[in-house]
Parts: sequence; C-alpha cells; structure tokens
Amino acid sequence: MEERKGRRIIMFPVPFPGHFNPMIQLAGIFHHRGFSVSILHTSHNFPDPSRHPHFTFRAISHKKEGEGEDPPSRSETSGLDLVSFIRVLKQKYAEPFRETLAAEVGGGETVCCLVSDAIWGRSTEDAAKEVGLRRVVLRTGGAASFRAFAAFPLLRDKGYFSILDSRLDDPVIELPPLKVKDLPVIETNDPDELYRIITDMVEGVKSSSGVIWNTFEDLERDQLIDMSSNFHVPFFPIGPFHKHNNDLPPKTKKKDNETINWLDKQEPKSVVYASFGSLADVEEKEFLEIAWGLRNSKQSFLWVVRPGLVRGTEWLDSLPCGFMENVGDKGKIVKWANQLDVLAHPAVGVFWTHCGWNSTVESICEGVPMICTPCFTDQLVNARYIADVWRVGKVLERSMMNKGEIEKVVKSAMIVEGDGMRDRCLAFKEMADKSLGKNGSSSNYLDKLVRHALSFDS
Ligand code: UDX
Repeated sequence: MEERKGRRIIMFPVPFPGHFNPMIQLAGIFHHRGFSVSILHTSHNFPDPSRHPHFTFRAISHKKEGEGEDPPSRSETSGLDLVSFIRVLKQKYAEPFRETLAAEVGGGETVCCLVSDAIWGRSTEDAAKEVGLRRVVLRTGGAASFRAFAAFPLLRDKGYFSILDSRLDDPVIELPPLKVKDLPVIETNDPDELYRIITDMVEGVKSSSGVIWNTFEDLERDQLIDMSSNFHVPFFPIGPFHKHNNDLPPKTKKKDNETINWLDKQEPKSVVYASFGSLADVEEKEFLEIAWGLRNSKQSFLWVVRPGLVRGTEWLDSLPCGFMENVGDKGKIVKWANQLDVLAHPAVGVFWTHCGWNSTVESICEGVPMICTPCFTDQLVNARYIADVWRVGKVLERSMMNKGEIEKVVKSAMIVEGDGMRDRCLAFKEMADKSLGKNGSSSNYLDKLVRHALSFDS
C-alpha cells in the first residue's frame, strides 16, 4: 500500500449497477495505489456507504424548492424508455454536479483529477475545467462497442440506421465483423436523443485527459489500436478491474450462502447460469419460453429473475402453478446473485447472458463459455465478438427465443468441449490473469495511469 497523503480522486459514476460496479472496483484499485477517493453520487439509487467504508460518499440532489421528485427507479418503471431516462438523469444532475464538485474541490485537500463515467458526456468536462481539474473518463463498456459508437455519424450518413428489416444480416462494411443487426442501438421513441447521448459521450471522451477501460490488451488489442489513432488522448486498458488485488477487507462484500450452498450440491460444470443484467426486461411471453426451455433442456439451472425483469409483473407471478415443484432440485430461481461468486463456482458450466460488458468480462475471466442473447446497445456488439471473434460463446437471438430453440441451444452449449469454446475461454482467462501480473499489460498501464493522475497535480 502506498502513501495516501495529497492523492485524492473524485469520481462520478452513472447510477446503474452495470456502471456503478466497475467504478467502485476502480475506486478500490486507486485506493490500493495510495489515493483517497470521494464519490459524488446522484441521490437517485444512492448506494449504502457502509458497504464501501474506504470511500467518502456525497449525494448530489437535483431537487430545488418546488421541484419534482427524483426520476423513478428503473425497477419501478419497467418498460420506461431507457434513452429518455438517461436524458432526464443528464439534464437534472448536470448543474447540481457542477455545484457539488466546486464545493468538494474547494474543501481543502488537493484533488488530482475527476474520474467520470463516459455517459455523462461533455458537461462533466466543463464542470471540471471551471474548477481547474483534469478529467479522466471511465468507459465501462468494451473497446469494440465503443468503436461502433464512435462511428455513429458515419453510420447515420450512410443510412445504416434506416436499413430495412430484410437486410439485418448485411455486413457493416466499415466495421467488420458487425452485421446491421449488431449495431449498438436500442428501441426508443426518441432515436435523435439516442444519437445525441452517444455523440456527446464520444466527444466527451475526445476532450478528456485520458480513458480508462475495463478491458485488457490481449482481448481487444486491435480495437484499442484502431481507435487510439483517432482519439488523441491516452488509453489505459487496465482491466479486468474485479481481478485486481485491492486488499479491501472481505466484509465489504455480501456473501450469498443460499445460492452457493445450492451450487455446492451440483456436479462440476453442470449448471446453466442465466441472468440478463440489471436493466434489460422481457415480455411475459418470453419469460415463459425461457422457463420452459430451461426446464425441457433437463440441465440444472440457476436463473436470476430480477423484480422488474418481466414487464407488468411483480416477480414470478406468471410462472405456471407447480412449475418449480416440477423442476425440483434441478433448478433455482433467485432475485439477485453475487455473480462473481457464481461464475467462479466449479459447478457453473455455461452462462446464458444478455452480454452486458461486465458480465462478458466476468465470464471470460472465469473461463465460462456463454450463450448470448443481447438485448440492446453495446450488448449486440459484444455478442458478435463473443461468438465470432473470441469464439467463446453461441448466439441465441432474442427473436428466436422460443422454448424449442432454447432447449436445443442450452443442450448443445453444455457439450462445449467438442468445439473448443471452453478451452478458448480458459486461454483468455489465463491472458487476463497474466495481464495483471508483474509486467503484464494491465499492470503496466495502471502504473502509467497512476503517474498520469499524479502529473496533473504539478
Ligand atoms: C449496463 C448495460 O446494459 C450493459 O450493456 C453495459 O455494458 C453496462 O451497463 P447491465 O445490463 O446491468 O449493464 O449488465 P452488465 O454490464 O453485465 O452489469 C451487471 C453487473 O451486475 C455485473 O457486474 C454483474 O456481476 C452484476 N450482477 C448482475 C450481479 O452481481 N448479480 C446479478 O444477479 C446480476
């Protein structure tokens, strides 16, 4: 552990688990390298600070007298247009963030820099400049998907976003190996706003003092090189974040004994772990197809059904009466799991995932091959890379998600030895471990990042 004095970093995460988790892991990494970390967090989804006792938290409230409530939480508003939701977050918190940052910086101890999530865009750059701070961006997604986001103006000019459904399998010539159906978009009532959010994110990265990636060179070398020639800011691919030794005591991590006890009773590599992250939702009809597909596959399964996952229902309301009794000990449904512990468990054979970037990295780092059912944005790009570039998973398209197809794909994914999927995934796991070792690429980039952050001070 290094000396902490005079080394302070302020962080500003986006308040969704898929963004907060990597930011808090990054906070642990900086803490281990001797920095103190203050986290400015929206009052929306404000975390429990007692779970992260090493960091200081400050809530940013957008509420002024006479103003309305916080944006409702996503779980309360399943089906709410995510694009509109992000627009509201960005608008409501821009000014309060600026004020809170100014108060924090004026508070005494020298601050090295601001680390803000790329999604916040250029307004955080402006706020940092006003108080004389440099801003480094955390991009929580992968480099491959960011390359596609950076190409949005070109893709729009070339008409890719208005291509007819009949041509979804056409290649995107400018972005191999992507097909039109892999472009990182999301169903929204406001496609222009999506375009604004994405281009603001990309411009915000270009104007930053550096980008931290939760990826490692052996996984995304070509994509990083390709982009670094267009972005004249330093890149720091220091991932996988969650595998860094941060020396934080284990009491900060919640143990999920019930799930682990159930996994302990299963045969090695026999369980399909199914989870679609913290934001995606499904129709009731899709939910039932998943349930029957899993059951008919006759494989053991651990399935995370988040409250709010199934549109218009509380939790398992639409599961047919007696379904779980029929499945018996072969299956377990939970509201939330400690995914890192689950993926590291020897009983887990395959991860059926929506391909959020954290899930992708976490699975690769445990050598667990994937079944990919991407739902939106970067997940669509990640799935293409998982299946066709890294070849550590199979795609089960959402439009094909009927019980017959699910049964077929799940059964075949469990026999992965034959096509080398697991071996390739284990090879990436080894590369990830190596990248964090002495003189590994991620360790070296972390050294550079620390020097970079400290250089702002002088
Ligand atoms: C969102 C986007 O959807 C994703 O595409 C983007 O890359 C990041 O932001 P999310 O959908 O939540 O993220 O997916 P993902 O990136 O996989 O992050 C989910 C996080 O929650 C992971 O760190 C995972 O370990 C954790 N998780 C999820 C759990 O700990 N338990 C669960 O039951 C489910």
